[in-house]
Amino acid sequence: MTSNWKTLFQERKVSPIEAVQKGIKSGDYLVVGHVASTPVDIVKAIYDLRDELSDLKVFHMLYMGEPWHLKPEMQDTVKAYINFLDGHSRPLYQEGKVEYLPCHFHELPKLFEKDYPVNVSICQVSYPNEEGYCSFGITNDYCKAATDHADVVIVEMNKQMPFIGGDNLIHISKIDYLVEVDRPLLEFPQAKIGETELMIAKNCATLINDGDTLQLGIGAIPDAVLQSLQDKKDLGIHTEMFTDGVMHMIKSGHITGAKKTLLPNKVVTTLAMGSKELYEFLNDNNDVVCYPVDFTNDPYIIGQNDNLVSINSCIEMDITGQAASEAIGTRQFSGTGGQVDFLRGAKRSKGGRAILAFPSTAKNDTVSRIVPVLSEGSNVTAGRNEVDYVATEYGIVRLHGLSLRERAEALVSIAHPKFRPMLTEAIKKRFHIA
Ligand code: COA
Repeated sequence: MTSNWKTLFQERKVSPIEAVQKGIKSGDYLVVGHVASTPVDIVKAIYDLRDELSDLKVFHMLYMGEPWHLKPEMQDTVKAYINFLDGHSRPLYQEGKVEYLPCHFHELPKLFEKDYPVNVSICQVSYPNEEGYCSFGITNDYCKAATDHADVVIVEMNKQMPFIGGDNLIHISKIDYLVEVDRPLLEFPQAKIGETELMIAKNCATLINDGDTLQLGIGAIPDAVLQSLQDKKDLGIHTEMFTDGVMHMIKSGHITGAKKTLLPNKVVTTLAMGSKELYEFLNDNNDVVCYPVDFTNDPYIIGQNDNLVSINSCIEMDITGQAASEAIGTRQFSGTGGQVDFLRGAKRSKGGRAILAFPSTAKNDTVSRIVPVLSEGSNVTAGRNEVDYVATEYGIVRLHGLSLRERAEALVSIAHPKFRPMLTEAIKKRFHIA
């Protein structure tokens, strides 16, 4: 077996240009890996061969690295379908040059079955183990599903990709073309935690107990929440995103997973983003398992974790609890990600708690994030039946079980004081209070 895969390795090894020439044809639907696993060398080869290709569809979430496929000279070759906008794709979306494709994170694997019929999967994997299995490493999420559904599988086999177990492996025999790379993974600095984030985190921490299983996103608020849990023990992790903050809490012994009801003693994630130290920590670490996103983010699976606490954020919330988390008015800002997956999953969890946590204001305190009605054109990411606990720096309230009017009053109590009179007036008008 060992010598067999070494032969396959040699047979399937190609240059980026050869991978594209042999594996991709005009009209194909491509799925491209993302975040620190973005396969930039192969995307560059698509760019270099643009005169030989046309009508390519390219799907990805957070593409990180030089976006060769989005250059102006690629407009006639590539149509990009993006499920999560970032600093680069946001202005292009505003100019009508890329498409935003809405989909819950956990439903992406299903999308590739029929609605986005993937021909070619392009992602990064680790070097093979002794049995010839490569690991999707820090980015399983939709990459493994795309690979399972694709006619052609192209990978960048990166010497620096950590080998992480779980349902996170692909045998080399399933790879059609492999390009060897030896490139450091992109690193993501930890967000700066300010006074406001610390206050929000403290309010969230009042709901978190020893032995709870946590889902936290990336950014200043999740990192601040972790810092506020230094007196807790036996915390567990079932999440979509593994970050440096989680690593530090494992190293300090606060996260053990000992009380988890699903996959006890294991940290469960679908992707990881952070520092070199984090990537080294994850390599061959038997305490961490990486699963496809239709496992980690399936609300039914999430709900099998008792006492699951999820903490996510939003851009705006109206006084009834509807959350706009991915757009500012008609301006698409990011994506739905796994927010609704975890709101629903936490509700299914015995003892579960779902928190949306955000600063009470934006734009240097000039706008309230709690508003009478959402900005014109905003889409509701999380409906009011889904939103439960809400935290700002002024407190934390529970909306579930309250009437619309009671919700509004609860939300005003955690709005910035300077906007409370305006919100109180709006409540009076809306609910016909004399
Ligand atoms: N009105 C106008 N502008 C607003 C605003 C409002 N109510 N709220 C935020 N903004 C602006 C901010 O000023 C900021 O602008 P800038 O980039 O020019 O500084 C921008 O919108 C982002 O706001 P910020 O609070 O810095 O966002 P963030 O980086 O903390 O991300 C979300 C917050 C909600 C956008 C992000 O969590 C998200 O995309 N969530 C959906 C996906 C998800 O929850 N996934 C699951 C967890 S990984």
